[in-house]
This record gives sequence, structure tokens and C-alpha cells, in this order.
Amino acid sequence: MNKIYRKTYAAINLENVSHNFERLSEMSANTSLIPVVKADAYGHGADAIVKHLYYNHAVRLFAVSLLEEALALKALNLDIEILIMGPLQGSELSVVSEQDFIFTLTGQRLWNHVKMSKLPLRFDLKVDTGMHRLGFQNESEIIEVFNYARQHDNLTIEGIYTHFATADSDKAYFNEQRKRFNALLKVLPRTPSRIHVSNSSSIIKYEKTMPFNTHARLGISLYGYSLEEEVNFLKPVMDFITHVAEIKVLKPGEKLGYNITYEATAWENIAILPVGYADGWIRMNQGGMVSIGNNLYPIVARVCMDMTFIKVDQSVNTGDKVKLFGEGKITADTIAKRTKTISYEVLCQVSKRVPRVYNGK
Ligand SMILES: Cc1ncc(COP(=O)(O)O)c(C=O)c1O
Repeated sequence: MNKIYRKTYAAINLENVSHNFERLSEMSANTSLIPVVKADAYGHGADAIVKHLYYNHAVRLFAVSLLEEALALKALNLDIEILIMGPLQGSELSVVSEQDFIFTLTGQRLWNHVKMSKLPLRFDLKVDTGMHRLGFQNESEIIEVFNYARQHDNLTIEGIYTHFATADSDKAYFNEQRKRFNALLKVLPRTPSRIHVSNSSSIIKYEKTMPFNTHARLGISLYGYSLEEEVNFLKPVMDFITHVAEIKVLKPGEKLGYNITYEATAWENIAILPVGYADGWIRMNQGGMVSIGNNLYPIVARVCMDMTFIKVDQSVNTGDKVKLFGEGKITADTIAKRTKTISYEVLCQVSKRVPRVYNGK
């Protein structure tokens, strides 16, 4: 890692990755977990997360969204398989074949390219059971893929999968999707060796009730979060940290920041934090809290591109460490509620400008 000067960084706790992975492995019983490390492992740094799971938990299969992401993992030179989940273009198939990646057959458009190819291609077939994003809906089309692949030695269907739209919300709709997928499995000419349907919420709530699965795709809960409110056994992996760069004293009536949206009502200490919306610390954080030690302090005035103001007391000094979110009182879920989104987006939006620091190094 390059030297860090500004003390604003994302501290990634790999022990918490292990904790989450082990707990979720217990919950998923006989299925193997496929860590989803797209979007730079939801902002945590895919290289480090993959290496950690490879060396400490013997994980050998990872899922990404893009060919670029698969190539980046390949460059780690580990003995791993990489499943690309996103919708590829026909022009990407030659690289996929050359690199021996597993891709997702997302529908008829890509299938037309695959049929024209003479290259060795390995894929998992995606079934659209109700998300209406990617995958085949039509049973006869799916059977045609199986029959065609059987007659063409260059094509290997390794797996079949679907994705749930409402694993965290509408159980009836979830059951409907699950029913469609189960029905399809029964009519396939052969059963592929990899069957996977669950994401984090589905692993936590339903994986043990789906004995036909061989694998499950684990995303957000690997990183310590869940859309299930009652889940309390996960540990957040990322602490977004900054420090107090300056302290300004405002007189009563003095105004602060762009558009002077804040006015001091008494003599007030304002700490200036070197973090802003260019770091993914968005303007909607105005009005929320940050923590310094065990105390919480309010974010006042507009969040700037590189700076944030908080109102502090006499106990706060320049150089003090400030936690924006992570383990403790203010999590990515707190920020998600504050900024009207979900933990996924809060984690992913921590920008590239913020160095990731692993286990304190
Ligand atoms: C196809 C697919 N599978 C699995 C996941 C992981 O989902 P989660 O992060 O909810 O575990 C995602 C994430 O968006 C996905 O797109």
C-alpha cells in the first residue's frame, strides 16, 4: 500500500470477514458459499478479501459481475475459479474462453453468440423465475440449451441458478420463484453439478430448507450486514475513519459553510474533518452523527467535497480519531437510513480516493 498522508481511510477487519463467513457457512449447512466480490468486494477491496478467503477458508470459487473484475482476480495467480454473473457481450466470449472463466448464460441474445462459437466455453445457465432482470424464462429454450450443449463438446453447462427479488421482503413472491425453479429442475435433461439460488437473506432464512442446492452466493452478509432486521450475529467489516484536522470557535450568531445553513447559537467548537462527498461521504449526511470515542457528535452545515463540520465539546482535540461508520453505534445501516438507501450502497460508494487499510496495516 502506498503511504497514506491524510488520515481518512477505510479500515478493513479481516477477522470479521472470517467471523461472518464461518457463521454463514454453519447456516448454509451442506452448500458451499460463493463469495460475491463484485464492485471491489462491495468496496472492501476484492484482492484482499479473495486472498483472505482463499488462504484461511479454502474458498476456490468466487463470483463477480464483469469480465474486467474477473481479469483482475485472475491476476492474483491463485488456484481459483471465477463465475461472471453479469450480461456479457458476444465479443467478450473469446477472452472468457482464453482465461477459462465460467460465465453466466443470461438469455437468448448471448446464446446466439455461444452457438456460433467453436471455442471451449463453460457456463452456468441463469433462469428468470420472477426478478425479470437476467435469465431464460421459457422452459423449452432451456431444454434446447441442454440438448445443444450435449451435442457440442466445446460447450459445458456447469451450473444453473436463479436470483430472488424478495428474499428480504415478500415471502409469497419468494416462494413463487422457488417453486418455479424447483419445477424446472425436474424437467431438465440432466442435473448440472452446481445449483445455486440464495443470496445473503435467503441463506440466512431459507438455505436449510433447499436441499437441492449445492452452492449459495454470499454478498452483503460476508461484509457484516443484512437486510434482515433481527440479524445480530454479523460483524461489520469496514470502519470508515477520519480525524479532527482543525477546531474552529464560532461566536454566537456566526454562520458556517456553503450556503450558511448553520448558525451558532452560543460559543461553539466546530471540528473540521478532512472527508467529504468526493470520498463517498455524501451531502445527505448533514444532520447525522459521527463518533469520537464513546461520544456522538452532530454533523452541522453542508458537507463539502473534501470536508465535513461537526459540533464538538471541550473534550475533543485536533488529531482525535473519528468514526463515520462501522462497528459500534453508527453502522452502514445507520447511514443507509439517514441517506435513504441500503447498506450495500453506503459501502460501495466509499470512493477510490479512500485508502483501504487491512488489519491496521
Ligand atoms: C446474481 C446475484 N447473486 C448474489 C448476489 C449477492 O446478494 P447479497 O449481497 O444480497 O448477498 C447478488 C448481489 O447483488 C447478485 O446480483
